[in-house]
Amino acid sequence: MKKLTALIALACTAAAMPAAAQFAKPQDAVKYRQAALTVMASHFSRMQPVVRGQAPYDAAQIKANVDILKTLAALPWAGFGPGTEGGDAKPEVWSNAADFKDKQQRLIDNVGKLSAAADSGDLAKVRAAFGDVGASCKACHDVYRKK
Ligand code: HEC
Repeated sequence: MKKLTALIALACTAAAMPAAAQFAKPQDAVKYRQAALTVMASHFSRMQPVVRGQAPYDAAQIKANVDILKTLAALPWAGFGPGTEGGDAKPEVWSNAADFKDKQQRLIDNVGKLSAAADSGDLAKVRAAFGDVGASCKACHDVYRKK
């Protein structure tokens, strides 16, 4: 039992290791997060024509893309670890870390809701949830991204 507890403690420590430890240099973390944000933005914005009614709604295609977006929405944040200030990120990312984390979670939650909407196959629901995801991008950029 004691051994098991120690093992769990070890696993938790590994999971909580500073994100910066995953990157050899701070610049690598900046590159990683910018690349992850770029790919995430691509999988978000490619749904815009469907949401705007400029392209036909293919529920399976939207669902497949939302699944990818769901994975991608979890990625950029590991690249904002301690000591990785720079890029177009404002210093507030690090000085308001708790709020920055809340805004990540808001995005992740809204992408979860978009996923449920995509499951429903109801374009009106997808449209509303897509708008909420977009609002959570903007809410973070307004405060934490340099223009
Ligand atoms: C929790 C805050 C946060 C959320 C949520 C967020 N972003 Fe960002 N985003 C940033 C920050 C900070 C930067 C600047 C990163 C840098 O340059 O180091 C950025 C940069 C970007 C970039 C530029 C990447 C590059 O190549 O320099 C794109 C594109 C982008 N975000 C798109 C999005 C989209 C689309 C969403 C929503 C689906 C989103 N972001 C949600 C904080 C956020």
